[in-house]
Amino acid sequence: MHLVLLHLLLHLVVTRCSGDDDQFVYSGFAGARLSTDGVAAITPDGMLELTNGTLQRKGHAFHPSPVRLLRGGGAAARARSFSTSFVFGILSDHAGLSAHGMAFVVAAGTDFSAALPSGYLGLLNVTSDGDPRNRLLAIELDTMQNDEFRDINDNHVGVDVNSLHSAQSNSAGFYDDQDGAGGELRFRNLTLISGEAMRVWVDYDAEAARIDVTMAPLGVPKPSRPLVSARSNLSTVVAADSAFVGFSAATGGTLRSRHYVLGWSFSMDRPAPAIDVGKLPKLPRAASKDRSRILEIVLPVATAAFLVAAAAAIFLEVRRHRRYAEVHEDWELEFGPHRFSYKDLFHATGGFKDSNLLGIGGFGRVYRGALPISRTEIAVKRVSHESQQGIKEFIAEVVCLGRLQHRNLVQLLGYCRRRGELLLVYDFMPNWSLDKYLHAREEGQHLRAPQLDWALRIRIIKGVASGLLYLHEDWEKVVVHRDIKASNILLDGEMNGRLGDFGLARLYDHGSQPKTTHVVGTIGYIAPELGRTGRASPRTDIFAFGIFVLEVVCGQRPIISVAQDDGEVLLVDWVLHHWQSGSLSEAVDARLQGDVDIGEASVVLKLGLLCAHPFVDARPSIRQVTQYLDGEVALPELQPTYQIPSTYDTSTHESKGSNRSISSLSGGR
Ligand SMILES: Nc1ncnc2c1ncn2[C@@H]1O[C@H](COP(=O)(O)OP(=O)(O)OP(=O)(O)O)[C@@H](O)[C@H]1O
Ligand SMILES: *[C@@H]1O[C@H](CO)[C@@H](O)[C@H](O)[C@H]1NC(C)=O
Ligand SMILES: *[C@@H]1O[C@H](CO)[C@@H](O)[C@H](O)[C@H]1NC(C)=O
Ligand SMILES: *[C@@H]1O[C@H](CO)[C@@H](O)[C@H](O)[C@H]1NC(C)=O
Ligand SMILES: *[C@@H]1O[C@H](CO)[C@@H](O)[C@H](O)[C@H]1NC(C)=O
Ligand SMILES: [Mg+2]
Repeated sequence: MHLVLLHLLLHLVVTRCSGDDDQFVYSGFAGARLSTDGVAAITPDGMLELTNGTLQRKGHAFHPSPVRLLRGGGAAARARSFSTSFVFGILSDHAGLSAHGMAFVVAAGTDFSAALPSGYLGLLNVTSDGDPRNRLLAIELDTMQNDEFRDINDNHVGVDVNSLHSAQSNSAGFYDDQDGAGGELRFRNLTLISGEAMRVWVDYDAEAARIDVTMAPLGVPKPSRPLVSARSNLSTVVAADSAFVGFSAATGGTLRSRHYVLGWSFSMDRPAPAIDVGKLPKLPRAASKDRSRILEIVLPVATAAFLVAAAAAIFLEVRRHRRYAEVHEDWELEFGPHRFSYKDLFHATGGFKDSNLLGIGGFGRVYRGALPISRTEIAVKRVSHESQQGIKEFIAEVVCLGRLQHRNLVQLLGYCRRRGELLLVYDFMPNWSLDKYLHAREEGQHLRAPQLDWALRIRIIKGVASGLLYLHEDWEKVVVHRDIKASNILLDGEMNGRLGDFGLARLYDHGSQPKTTHVVGTIGYIAPELGRTGRASPRTDIFAFGIFVLEVVCGQRPIISVAQDDGEVLLVDWVLHHWQSGSLSEAVDARLQGDVDIGEASVVLKLGLLCAHPFVDARPSIRQVTQYLDGEVALPELQPTYQIPSTYDTSTHESKGSNRSISSLSGGR
């Protein structure tokens, strides 16, 4: 019993794997020993590759041993029927175009060395075509229309007997059993070069000497109606007891195509065994194997690269958006031309890098830069501004101030708004601010600029006065500067003094009620009544201007630190003291080494004191100041004895050491 089973098993193994002459099945060709020639080969993944894409090549593959076409011997021999089925695929580099096809072959021999590729399918040549000595039956899957063989189209299946001129042929396709309800079976076209695996059945009926060819897509069962039927007596065609069965394919001279057989079964006298479709190797996706290999590598890399690039682009865009984000509001449209894009300012200042930092002031940092297109040199002041309150009025004012043009004002070019930040763009002043010259030594700064000589100091004072005159009187509105001081006097290329930062203090002043008086200004320059009321006026500017004049002439800060007793003396009091003791000329900056017009110096010092007078009404207007400076009007005779009100002494200026800050003198907040 066991023996019988074992025998049966062995028989099965033998028929399924190595096969006998009468019956075999290849569900994939891995390990199969076919006899191949030309470019035909079995690929590592088990496909029978008849052609490999190289032009003008042919390839053949035959079952290694011949099949017996006749049963019995001699006169008693009878022709046998056979049945075969195979799964094939034709790939083309060019969708819809293919050069030449392939064929299932039953032949007396396997030597096709004299055959031609291309239209001859590797089977015949010009002289041998139609010759009965060829002893050849071929089922062609032809993808070219060759007129010399009277092909019906470029996508047909034909039965060829010793000739490429098919005995019978039909357009590739199948009669679909599924919707044949109305009697006529619907014909469905198939495209041989679709790159899809398709199945062909070839059934030879020896009794009827008829060959039926049927085809269908891989998933479709064998259609009941054959595609092509042809009469042919194989015993006479092959004219031998046995014949070789196999495949042939050929490429032409222009288009690259590949012909594959994925599985094949054959049987004499009975239906071919089933091919295990699940085991079949998969046709390559792309037409070219090389290309598919390349794609296998390139595609994931390209996809990854694309994803990375996309992610990077999104990241950069988000970052760019964040980095360059601005605040725009509708009402700003009218200020259009004065608005700068943050991106431009960012690039202009090299990303606000430290090496472009000009200085840090009470409102923020100032950076040097150059505008992208015009290459205009600019100074960008970043003012942090948290509250939205009053910003509209302020910007309206900034734009309004931008219209101010005077040779003694630092031109305001425009602004840019971001969250919690305002950027003001000014003309760049190449020669720094005045404080850098006056107090360079004590700040440890080493300016290469020459010391300011007397004439230059006078010219700067006159320039600032003329700028202030423009603000106070010559423009359509009265503009109060609010922050006149040495660091806000900038020197242009010709060493003209220019007033900068005008109106900026107002940003912090805006909307403040008379009650809530927090004073904006710089210690030492704040007029007494400004300290009391917090209300800036042209006369508070005059006060600060007076202090500035004294500062320039004396080369001293508004509040002088007295080293010995660790106390502070106001510059005003110090000058006044010199005047009272008859040594006004000693108040002049010692660095000038006497190279001074003493008469002019004492006039200017007295003018400074007059401007910095504690009583508002005692101070001259800026127009009078310019007249005094120009000598058009003589300075009134003054006495060095004005009373110092009790509200005005150093104790009001609470901060020691730091001579500048925004002070809050009364309890507004
Ligand atoms: N338009 C400009 N061109 C060249 N340098 C400038 C310009 N504006 C400002 N600076 C420089 O930047 C420094 C800082 O200026 P900023 O106005 O912020 O501070 P400040 O004048 O010392 O005080 P405040 O904030 O009260 O005006 C100044 O000392 C000056 O040297
Ligand atoms: C095809 O096979 C031939 C012969 O084996 C070889 O010379 C040629 O390079 C192959 N072509 C491709 C595209 O692999
Ligand atoms: C054509 O093929 C036959 C054999 O099939 C061969 O004898 C003959 O020489 C070939 N002709 C040419 C022109 O190659
Ligand atoms: C099928 O193919 C034939 C021949 O190419 C063509 O005439 C016919 O229109 C096609 N039918 C369909 C449904 O595509
Ligand atoms: C086929 O040919 C063989 C040999 O010539 C002959 O014996 C046989 O009857 C033929 N078969 C048919 C169906 O014609
Ligand atoms: Mg300033």
